[in-house]
Amino acid sequence: DDLDKLELRPPVLTIMGHVDHGKTSLLDYIRRSKVAASEAGGITQGIGAYRVQVPFDGKPQTCVFLDTPGHEAFGAMRARGARVTDIAIIVVAADDGIQPQTTEAIAHAKAAGVPIIVAINKIDKDGANPDRVMQDLSSIGLMPEEWGGDIPMVKISALKGENVDDLLETVMLVSELQELKANPNRNAKGTVIEAGLDKSRGPVATFIVQNGTLKRGDIVVCGEAFGKVRALFDDKGKRVDEAGPSIPVQVIGLNNVPLAGDEFEVVGSLDIAREQAESRADY
Ligand code: GTP
Ligand code: NA
Ligand code: MG
Repeated sequence: DDLDKLELRPPVLTIMGHVDHGKTSLLDYIRRSKVAASEAGGITQGIGAYRVQVPFDGKPQTCVFLDTPGHEAFGAMRARGARVTDIAIIVVAADDGIQPQTTEAIAHAKAAGVPIIVAINKIDKDGANPDRVMQDLSSIGLMPEEWGGDIPMVKISALKGENVDDLLETVMLVSELQELKANPNRNAKGTVIEAGLDKSRGPVATFIVQNGTLKRGDIVVCGEAFGKVRALFDDKGKRVDEAGPSIPVQVIGLNNVPLAGDEFEVVGSLDIAREQAESRADY
């Protein structure tokens, strides 16, 4: 039965690490090199997540990066039991080594049961000591694959883009092992990754669809909010009719602003949606 058929879906990633270790630089580099090309002069309207095409197995494959600070994403969402991220990239600056937020990020990823890839960054710098970082990581239980362990570690320069392709290839390899699947032929469910109130458009929420396909016109209940999806916008701000598994999408039509980490679900009618939303609000 087609309705029960699981299909591979793209991996969803977060980048975490200590202050100034290069998370934004890495995201920026990936975005510039892998997203800008397809934007053809368009202006990116940040929706807190974006899709990247990575050549793998001889064809371009999608992965999705959450553009929220990893700690917030994990903190707020984990508090609600949501698991949105499939893989965590932990950035460690090779000239600074393991710092408090590095350890914290590792703990978050482990608690969520999410595979870790370490990006040892700033290898272009004087004073960079990637081997030292690997040693220190192995002493806290992250044994590099290179040394017979199970944690992929890639030495990069986010500033120069050095080895970032290797990092992305590693992402695709890890994702392939996870066999991430979802059923695009059912009603959508997923998680709110950010939300706010827009003066002209009203409540605006960014969803990650985790199963099924969200369509314009669907009725959703979303934490204590609900509504009919009036419009959907992709990560480039372009109007779309639907969004399948792992795809981030901005939604308008909700009666209220939901919270990051709230789950959303498509239901059969506005009455059902209202009832479910109100029962949550009461409790
Ligand atoms: P927060 O968001 O503040 O936690 O910092 P971050 O982890 O996003 O670090 P960010 O990308 O802002 O980089 C911090 C500084 O390190 C900036 O001055 C970057 O230019 C620099 N930097 C980042 N990556 C590299 C790198 O690979 N090599 C060198 N030399 N500098 C880098
Ligand atoms: Na910074
Ligand atoms: Mg940053």
